Amino acid sequence: MAPQLDGYFAEVDKLSNHFIDRLAKAVAIPSISSDASRRPDVVRMGEFLAAELKNLGASVEMRPLGKQPDKPDLDLPPVVLARYGSDKNKRTILVYGHYDVQPAEKSDGWSTEPFTLTVGEDGRMFGRGSTDDKGPVLGWLNAIEAHQKAGVDFPVNLLMCFEGMEEYGSEGLDELIEKEGKGYFADADAVCISDNYWLGTEKPCLTYGLRGCNYYSVEISGPGADLHSGVFGGTAQEPMTDLVRVLGSLVDTNGKIQVPGIYEQVAPVTSDEEGLYDGIAFTMETLHESLGSKTTVFEDKKSTLMARWRYPSLSVHGVEGAFSAPGAKTVIPAKVIGKFSIRTVPDMDIDKTNEAVYSYVKQVFAKLNSKNSLKVYAQHTGKWWVASPNHWNFRAAGKATERVWGVKPDFTREGGSIPVTLTFEQATGKNVLLLPMGSSTDGAHSINEKLDKRNYIEGIKLLGAYLHYVAEEPQN
Ligand code: BES
Ligand code: MN
Ligand code: MN
Repeated sequence: MAPQLDGYFAEVDKLSNHFIDRLAKAVAIPSISSDASRRPDVVRMGEFLAAELKNLGASVEMRPLGKQPDKPDLDLPPVVLARYGSDKNKRTILVYGHYDVQPAEKSDGWSTEPFTLTVGEDGRMFGRGSTDDKGPVLGWLNAIEAHQKAGVDFPVNLLMCFEGMEEYGSEGLDELIEKEGKGYFADADAVCISDNYWLGTEKPCLTYGLRGCNYYSVEISGPGADLHSGVFGGTAQEPMTDLVRVLGSLVDTNGKIQVPGIYEQVAPVTSDEEGLYDGIAFTMETLHESLGSKTTVFEDKKSTLMARWRYPSLSVHGVEGAFSAPGAKTVIPAKVIGKFSIRTVPDMDIDKTNEAVYSYVKQVFAKLNSKNSLKVYAQHTGKWWVASPNHWNFRAAGKATERVWGVKPDFTREGGSIPVTLTFEQATGKNVLLLPMGSSTDGAHSINEKLDKRNYIEGIKLLGAYLHYVAEEPQN
């Protein structure tokens, strides 16, 4: 099967230093989507991708998305749309990835400069975006290049959609995908997203489900400006005091959500599902390793996987406007904005969940009898996604995984979110597959994010092999 693969694989190995250089160039661009002052870098990163794609012979369009809704004078970064090949006799695969990254500063505790790809003796390649999601995005470009240099015919037509706002909730992209489902993406036969990770460090997986994410702000204000706590302490009602109580009422120590109307929406566990978890390669030890501690809610694998994949969770992320620097500033913050999010699962409804949150937060605040004012609203929302892995798209990815890694992959769901996954499924009407490159210890969003050289190079082989098996796989 797929006889041309050996030549392709050898070429990937030959080009591996060049591919690492390409990743280094990408990591050097601090394309932080949440930071308005970094927007030119996000745009520069999109332009870098477009230029690389053009060099490889793809046709490329930069699609503007208009202004950022919460910052009306800031342009959203463009979406990079590209096509490589248009042979009517080949299948067409649509791939999506994101070129923006989470913020990072050396002072957060990084051991190396976050925006300098630093390759260790052991093959760990440190840098913000290395695994999330620049390595995988470049994986598609590298696969094209290795085919060309090996003289191996590219087995499919490739449509590409790379965005620069994923880490901020994929602002504006839903509308583009909905519009292009029957336009730019019309001849896609299936969709593949490489923006997830193995469950551990040794066993590859294919992913067929993600949780959704509703992200909330709760704003409490009173005084007209920050105050001296010696002068005003005890005489002014303090927004921070109210906020801490409101945030403290949302979830308990073991992660149980206290907002009524959430668990009622969760689909019951089926008997088929009960048997699913035991076979998955996942241990509490690797979890402790990725967590960097043993402070888990559960002691066993099944409860842990269920809590991550199929139950909702609520996390409190931070407080804007609060004093957070080192030292001991005696201030009463005038206005504070608490941030929290709920990861949603089948069959939760976005609007129903919003209503449950708004009414609970308002009720908790009302009980405080505070003279301060409260606002609670969603910053962004995105629905959960669960697909059928019984499809040629997954079969092809399974065969490619076996060819490259020598084992059959686990079929997994994930706790994280990629807001547009469901949008792609609905707009194209095609099967969507998540095909990971990195592993569980990569530390996406964390300090010292890395991608192992092995996962990058074998991952490039995997993406290419997947396209070859896609070309061979019979229709369902
Ligand atoms: N690559 C992640 C999504 C992911 C995380 C997949 C964990 C599988 C496992 C993506 O870049 C991400 O971080 N998404 C955000 C989306 C949010 C801003 C709506 C997330 O999950 O927090
Ligand atoms: Mn990602
Ligand atoms: Mn991410």
